[in-house]
Formats: sequence, structure tokens, C-alpha cells
Amino acid sequence: MRMLTPRKSIAIFSLRVALVDSNPYNHAMTASSAYFALVPAAGSGARMGGERPKQYLPLAGQPLLFHALATLCSVPRITRVFVILAPDDIEWSRHDWSSLGPKLAPLFYGGATRAESVRNGLRATAAQVQPRDWMLVHDAARPCLAPWHVDALIDGVGDDDDGGILAVPVTDTLKRADESGKIGATVARETLWQAQTPQMFRHVYLRRALENHASVTDEASAMEALGFHPKLVAGDPTNFKVTYPVDLLLAGWILQHRGDET
Ligand code: CTP
Ligand code: MG
Repeated sequence: MRMLTPRKSIAIFSLRVALVDSNPYNHAMTASSAYFALVPAAGSGARMGGERPKQYLPLAGQPLLFHALATLCSVPRITRVFVILAPDDIEWSRHDWSSLGPKLAPLFYGGATRAESVRNGLRATAAQVQPRDWMLVHDAARPCLAPWHVDALIDGVGDDDDGGILAVPVTDTLKRADESGKIGATVARETLWQAQTPQMFRHVYLRRALENHASVTDEASAMEALGFHPKLVAGDPTNFKVTYPVDLLLAGWILQHRGDET
């Protein structure tokens, strides 16, 4: 852990001590931690437009959501893949997920925001995981996730309690707008990264972070607010988020041509 303020160091230390003190199964904490995936898929896809939530739009012969779930289920180190669906989801049961095998576990606990969906998922899975097990939170809307992305993240984070996220260095020149919509400043991009998912944190810390910081757009922000310093693990731009209709075309092309370069 780097550069913690004394107050935050004490807060995290207290959290860790509290965890040890309150856990009657401490012997289990010395065993190596397991890996679980948690996939928020309870959004409406407003920016995509259309009737159907974007996670169910057809992509390369399957619902969009299928692709990320298939990758996560295929990674041997991942024990289980929890997918968080809206309580009123009517699409899930219309598709056949059986080819993904027994790791897949749907949970109808989605919330009003992405952070709420993830927090609800952490609450719902608490009885099935150990506090120090790793949760890899991945957007359903990133269908081009590949097994090597997941392995890079798990290997990159190792056993560092700060956890980490996949990200890519910013390549464009960045401009800060002024009030009139003109360029106010050019921002140095050398240290800037674009956050992706999966974002990987120990269940106990991530749950604490999201119970306290519900208005965040990614898990790392909530962890940062708690004083953690998540690691940036280099991914690649193919793991982008499908947001607008044109992104569907790009994702389809990437899935179709994956492996061509090898
Ligand atoms: N998500 C969720 N619960 C919400 C909102 C979003 O589980 N209440 C999920 C989405 O299903 C998606 C991921 O969080 O897999 C990333 O969110 P985003 O790309 O913003 O998807 P939507 O919120 O569905 O899209 P939009 O913001 O355009 O409405
Ligand atoms: Mg959204």
C-alpha cells in the first residue's frame, strides 16, 4: 500500500482487524483466496436506444451478455460467475445459457444504478464466499473480454489487498473545455488511463466501499474513497464498452476476427 494518509491507514487497519476479530472461521482466511466474477447486467441501455436492454441485443449469434459470461466461465481460476439482473427482467429466461456450464448463477437483485446493482450482488453473495475472496466485477456491456485479459488482471494484482483494474493508457490528446465550449487547456496525458473492467477487489473491502460510497461509476472509485490504491493493469482497447449502436458493429467485427492475428 502506497502513500496512505495516517487517517486512512488507520481506517483500513481497523477494518482489517475488525474482520479478523469478527470472523469465527479465521482458519479459512489463511487458505488461498478464491476468485468469483460478478457481472452487473441490470441496466436499460438508454444511450443505445430501442426497446430491448442492450445486454440482450443480438451479437455474433448470441445475446450480447452471453459473450462476457462465456469468457468468465471459461477461465479455470474463476469458481463461479454471478450475473446481476433486474428484478423485473423478462429476457433472461427466454435464452438458453446451458452451454456456459454450472458456474453460472443468475441473481435478480439489480438496483437503480450500476453501483447499487453491484452492491446488491455483494450482499446476495456474502454467504457463498469468504470475506477475503476476490470479486471480479465486469460490465455485461463489454462483450469482447478475452480469457487473457482476465488472467493478466489476476496475475497483475497477485495478493495485494489494494486490488486492481484493467485499464488502457490514454492515447488521444486531451482538451479541457472552458465555459464557452472553447479549449481552456490541454491536459498532459502521460499519466492518464481509461478504466475498464474487470475490477478486482476482496469481497469484504469492496462491500464496505460500496456500502459507504454509493454514487460512484466504478468500483475503484469507491475503494479509492476508502483509502485503497488499486493497481492499473494494462489491458487493450478491444475490451471496450458497448454504449452506442456503432459499438455493436465494432464488437461483432472483433469477435468474428479474434484469433486472426495469431
Ligand atoms: N448496470 C446495472 N444496473 C444499473 C445500470 C447499469 O447492472 N442500474 C450495468 C449495465 O447492464 C452494464 C454496466 O452496468 O452492463 C455498465 O453500464 P452502462 O454501460 O451504463 O449500461 P446501461 O446503464 O444499461 O446503459 P445507459 O447508461 O446507456 O442507460
Ligand atoms: Mg448506465
